[in-house]
Amino acid sequence: MSYFTIDFKDGKVLMLDQRRLPEKEVYLKLGAYEQVAKAIEQMAIRGAPAIGIAAGFGLALAGLELRKVNDHSQWWQKFGQALRRMARTRPTAVNLFWAINRMNHQAIISRDLSSSERAELLVQEAKKILAEDIAVNKKMGKNGAKLIRSGDVVLTHCNAGALATGGYGTALGVIRAAVEQGKKIQVFADETRPFLQGARLTAWELKKDRIPVTLISDNMAGWAMKSHKISKIIVGADRIARNGDTANKIGTYSLAVLARYHKINFYVAAPLSTIDRTCPGGENIPIEERSLEEIFLIKGKRIAPKGVRGWNPAFDVTPAGLISALITEAGVVKNPNPAKIKSLFNQ
Ligand code: MRU
Repeated sequence: MSYFTIDFKDGKVLMLDQRRLPEKEVYLKLGAYEQVAKAIEQMAIRGAPAIGIAAGFGLALAGLELRKVNDHSQWWQKFGQALRRMARTRPTAVNLFWAINRMNHQAIISRDLSSSERAELLVQEAKKILAEDIAVNKKMGKNGAKLIRSGDVVLTHCNAGALATGGYGTALGVIRAAVEQGKKIQVFADETRPFLQGARLTAWELKKDRIPVTLISDNMAGWAMKSHKISKIIVGADRIARNGDTANKIGTYSLAVLARYHKINFYVAAPLSTIDRTCPGGENIPIEERSLEEIFLIKGKRIAPKGVRGWNPAFDVTPAGLISALITEAGVVKNPNPAKIKSLFNQ
């Protein structure tokens, strides 16, 4: 791969600034946890697993920033501030909270060590989260590729690729795995208003991998299905409730409804770390609302009259009943329900 989403070198977090793509490949070099928190909020890095990995590295930086603080209560007070700051960045992707809990646990189990030894272990833990994510995506890709046939035209939404994860991707990981198996696959990518992750990021990463991609605007998806251009749909997820209801980028729900009407299989690919077992159903998933500037402006240019109202929910929830199968690293679950989802965790 000629690029990477996020890495950690010489005490700094390196991340590809996704706001600059596709025009420029610029890497941010961040040395303070506050900088990582801002990068997540401002979507320099985005996508549920990548947000979790970034939070892990952000907390590793917090550990490094505190390595000279030897007073225990002062250390925990400051580390607690860093944990809470990370948790305030984006509310919907549960991978964020999963990674924060993992880093907190690492800090707790190394409480008897010196601050600098603890900092080193926090860095190791964040690196582990990154490495595990890539391995999980490859497993998920293999599992999901069994559902894909040569000749399929797969519609995807937003970006659930290498850029949204430590590498390889979830929905795009399934497509990559199918292509690696020699299957001929074409992808239709929704542009994904208002942040344009499909146009800017999915199209960019598929082009780099020479996987044929056709870009459409979001409102073309229904007609593409009606015109028999789409044989399958695969999307990622930001949080899956224990009953299978799935929050993903705004517009996903409309695709699932359209897919049901047109009898097209609708798949969700996500790691187990995206399943929130404390969340009973979709109505309990917090939905992030972002700045109205994102819909009133395109590339800084105003496209709507001043003074009109707007609404900008960043995610929607697709009920489990509209999902043909959930693809995870632990296997594929057709027609997901609470019992089947629970069984994924016992493997
Ligand atoms: O707002 P974003 O770009 O962070 O939203 C990303 C998505 O909705 C992705 O589909 C999801 O996080 C899965 S990424 C593997």
